[in-house]
Amino acid sequence: MKGRRVITHTEGESNRSEARAAWAARHPDPATRDLLLRDAEAFLHQSLSSPCVSTIARAEGIWIEDTAGRRYMDFHGNSIHHLGYAHPRVVAAIKAQLDELSFAPRRFTNGVSVQLAETLGAIAPGDLSKVLFTTGGSDANEVALRLARAATGRFKTLSFWDAFHGAGFGAASVGGEATFRSHVAGPLLPGAEHVAPFNCSRCAYGHPGPETCGLACAKMVDFVLEREGDVAAVIAEPMRAVPVVPPPGYWRAVRAACDRHGALLIFDEIPTGLGKTGRMFAFEHDGVVPDIVTLGKALGGGILPIAAVVARRDLDVAGDYAIGHYTHEKNPVTARAALETLAVIREEGLTERAATLGSHALATLAEALAGVGIVGDIRGRGLLFGIEIVTDRDSRAPAKDLAERIYYRCLAAGLSFKISAGAVLTLSPPLVIAREDLDRALVIVTDAIRDEAG
Ligand SMILES: Cc1ncc(COP(=O)(O)O)c(C=O)c1O
Repeated sequence: MKGRRVITHTEGESNRSEARAAWAARHPDPATRDLLLRDAEAFLHQSLSSPCVSTIARAEGIWIEDTAGRRYMDFHGNSIHHLGYAHPRVVAAIKAQLDELSFAPRRFTNGVSVQLAETLGAIAPGDLSKVLFTTGGSDANEVALRLARAATGRFKTLSFWDAFHGAGFGAASVGGEATFRSHVAGPLLPGAEHVAPFNCSRCAYGHPGPETCGLACAKMVDFVLEREGDVAAVIAEPMRAVPVVPPPGYWRAVRAACDRHGALLIFDEIPTGLGKTGRMFAFEHDGVVPDIVTLGKALGGGILPIAAVVARRDLDVAGDYAIGHYTHEKNPVTARAALETLAVIREEGLTERAATLGSHALATLAEALAGVGIVGDIRGRGLLFGIEIVTDRDSRAPAKDLAERIYYRCLAAGLSFKISAGAVLTLSPPLVIAREDLDRALVIVTDAIRDEAG
């Protein structure tokens, strides 16, 4: 590996491993410190994981509690906790399913898995109605890529720099984050082309906005598709989880470019789907329908791992090949958790709730942080929003150390979240959060920002 640059820390997320270890070492409770040390001893270290910042002994609703009884509102939850933790309906459904049928070996189908596939097909717009389940989101994206190869006879892909689509070799190939593309991951898939993502709120390309730049970022997708001529699929998150909201018209332009050049459009809705952004699918904000959508994370109700590929009916063209041959493909227990999750989201109106609370949060933050010099931008959709911390408002350079200090202040005050893109405080509360808890969290974060701003 001589001469290769070793990338030890991603730009994409917060909490450098030394900072995490230092925070853990200062924990006042000896039993908690001991568990953190044992974790660091027992697990392979990797970016964004071990060593950990804290322990977890209990998780319920929006709360996680460590082994010393410290409680944190969890505004991160790896994007799995739309229903909060341990939602009683999902827990009960899983228990009932364990008594009824706990596993289905391949080629023996079961009612609950079929019902879940039918339900997803019914919820998804357009002709998205052919389904395959995987255990994780990375695998779901790789199934989508295989399907795109089968349907188009092409192998190339176009995706965004800075994106994350999972840790598998295929998913990492279409991903664009340095941490997942280091020498320990490569060589990656051939033909995985990348373009700069839309980034309007702090346009990386020097354009002030879609009205004046004419959607240059979407035109670049069209340009590359045309030049390559044989791209199987564009794969992207419809709203970047960083978070960055797409400029108006972006996806309509990309959809048209895909159609013009024979490429499929795959949306990875693994963190953004199932109501998080105030619509069941984030792409519904943008007036387009993809050819394939992948779901995961919250689909398992914040308890069990399950992900899904939902494709256009006519893309069912790979019947003689293995495109996603996973042991737990039709696991009735994970399927039951997902069915109950979808039922709760719909019956409790959680999508609409995310829209309402999200608008309230953005308005509250805008008011509380107006004129604070280290706040570059406040943005998001539904209950996925972020606050960009900058060195100054003119250059809008990311203030990583400041963001990290704010993060640890909030953690000490009982609010957990993550930092994205170096310095964006990324807040993603459960859809079931009470308005008073949301308001309390917003006070914690705005106070911490104001204190650091001085
Ligand atoms: C956009 C996106 N796609 C895919 C994945 C991968 O999902 P999993 O960790 O279940 O493989 C993630 C996980 O963070 C994600 O955020």
